[in-house]
Amino acid sequence: MTARLLDGTALSARLRQEMSPRIDVLSRRGKPPGLAVVLVGDDPASQIYVRNKVKACADVGIRSELHRMSSTTSEAALLDVIARLNCDRTVNGILVQMPLPPQIDPARVIEAIAIEKDVDGFHMLSAGALMTGRIDGGVGFRPCTPYGVMRMLDDAAVPIAGAHAVVIGRSNTVGKPMALMLLARHATVTICHSATRGLADLVRQADIVVAAVGRASTVTADMVKPQAAVVDVGMNRDAAGKLVGDVDFSAVREVAGWISPVPGGVGPMTIAMLLDNTVLSAERAAAPP
Ligand code: GUN
Repeated sequence: MTARLLDGTALSARLRQEMSPRIDVLSRRGKPPGLAVVLVGDDPASQIYVRNKVKACADVGIRSELHRMSSTTSEAALLDVIARLNCDRTVNGILVQMPLPPQIDPARVIEAIAIEKDVDGFHMLSAGALMTGRIDGGVGFRPCTPYGVMRMLDDAAVPIAGAHAVVIGRSNTVGKPMALMLLARHATVTICHSATRGLADLVRQADIVVAAVGRASTVTADMVKPQAAVVDVGMNRDAAGKLVGDVDFSAVREVAGWISPVPGGVGPMTIAMLLDNTVLSAERAAAPP
């Protein structure tokens, strides 16, 4: 039996619809959610990501503003823009598209964003809030990609508590927060990375596999336990220039219980969670003290 599809395109469309009453309430109170996107330089992939984010905002009625800065922008000039956006009450979320040019330290930039507006969830206070279970108490935000993965698993009713989850990748933006989110839901979590020995044996034990390494065919059918849930965060180009994930989709779908495609899986969910975090930020800002 082939795996059930974790369809991120369909789920993200549904989540956007569900967001619309929340946006209406804020707009009627004269406090519509606003997202500021900062793009430094002209990296072609970043241009596409940013365009998609701005368009997604327009589609759901979130006000967005795009701040384009040249590739020779100084760190100080970027920090000035962030300081201004931090004080702007019409801006609920600030997203600085990564990567940044080499003269700019990304950590400095991320830490300069007001925690109340860190809708990417990259700030170290958001990371600490995630680690200590404080986000639902109103501190910080979940990083959008792993948050989107959790929403996909929940929508498909994939059992998480007690499951063995293997996360392949240890980035601050995906692998580490993914592991923490699964742990918070009582999964037993193994984090694998480039120095892991016996990757295939570890993945074979997994009830849930999240692949986030950025290398095609990292997860092959012989590595997957029958009926496991396999989520593919990878975005790679194959020799023909086609977008592929980290998972050998056509073979793994014959073994897995659930599988997310690339494209149409995690990608649209990441954007939906950015919108969700922006609306949440606006709701927190509009809430009476
Ligand atoms: N570059 C690639 N993905 C992302 C993302 O989710 N947020 C930001 N800020 N930059 C990125």
